[in-house]
Amino acid sequence: MRVLVTGGAGYIGSFTVDALQAEGHDVVVFDNLSYGHREAVSSEILVGDLADEALLLKLLTQRSFEAVIHFAGSIEAGLSMIEAGRFFANNVSNTITLLNVAQRAGIQHIVFSSSAGVYGNPERMPIKETDSTVPINTYAETKLLAERILAWYERVYGMRSVSLRYFNAAGAALDGSKGQDHQPATHILSVAIETALGQRAAFPLFGDDYNTPDGTCIRDYIHVLDLASAHIMALRYLIDGGGSETLNVGAGQGHSNRAVIESVKHVSGIDFPVDVQPRRPGDPSRLIADVEKIGRVLAWQAQHSDLDTVVRSAWQWQRTHPHGYGS
Ligand SMILES: NC(=O)c1ccc[n+]([C@@H]2O[C@H](COP(=O)([O-])OP(=O)(O)OC[C@H]3O[C@@H](n4cnc5c(N)ncnc54)[C@H](O)[C@@H]3O)[C@@H](O)[C@H]2O)c1
Repeated sequence: MRVLVTGGAGYIGSFTVDALQAEGHDVVVFDNLSYGHREAVSSEILVGDLADEALLLKLLTQRSFEAVIHFAGSIEAGLSMIEAGRFFANNVSNTITLLNVAQRAGIQHIVFSSSAGVYGNPERMPIKETDSTVPINTYAETKLLAERILAWYERVYGMRSVSLRYFNAAGAALDGSKGQDHQPATHILSVAIETALGQRAAFPLFGDDYNTPDGTCIRDYIHVLDLASAHIMALRYLIDGGGSETLNVGAGQGHSNRAVIESVKHVSGIDFPVDVQPRRPGDPSRLIADVEKIGRVLAWQAQHSDLDTVVRSAWQWQRTHPHGYGS
């Protein structure tokens, strides 16, 4: 089947493109390369911006696509509280443009990159899809709005979708040949490895006085290969006639920031300074996914998301590609 992958030159998108191609699908990536890398793309790529409705319309009406996997968007939650307008424009307006064009082209299946951020400061752990969604930054709000828009597009146009609420995407190809290259790095694991590699003087640890066993925040790390397989299974589910769903994608267990730092030190064999700083506003102490629903609906299970595999693969990628794709 032919699949359009927006944001397919980015971190999670590029791994999903590889997985789609391995399944024999015909893939076209649509990416403006604002954060993506042409070198990461193993399929055909059209460089363009989602705001370019005419270009999208031409692409989707000239070639027949059965599905769209929509990764493209602005991703830094912190920045979204400074440049809110840009986040709403890219993540909401551009999503509407894409959906309208897809609807005109007769595309009925959408897999959407949502985020665990929609839960805000959750009331209980692990987090279920039915728990309250109370975003605490505009990034998460844009994801929730897009989910809600998708629900209306099903009611009005019969367009079915799976929104995948990712927890913390992490890790790289197991042979270290491909990985995350988002400049500047903001994710804890990339920052810790940069510190081990001497690219930073010290690792900034935000808060060690949380109500957790070692005082540092606990997060659910999902390996990018497991995220890619979740998209493949979501697509198959929709093509087989499955109804719209919203699903958590996580490992179902959490690791503290200290545990991640210790794991990076262990895997790299390098001790590095850790600079404890005050808590960042809006960082919940724990975020762990309940993954019962995705297991039931898609028969999906994480296979590479143990902390050692996540850290070893990321280390292998960053050690051999200290400047990412170099583009
Ligand atoms: N990385 C995570 O931990 C995480 C967690 C939850 C949700 N998500 C979501 O998953 C998706 C992919 O995340 P990622 O980590 O791979 O990010 P990424 O920045 O590596 O990938 C996003 C891609 O979209 C492209 N893009 C952005 N705006 C575009 C536009 N207007 N037109 C065309 N292309 C555009 C960028 O060039 C980039 O290649 C995003 O929607 C993100 O919000 C990521």
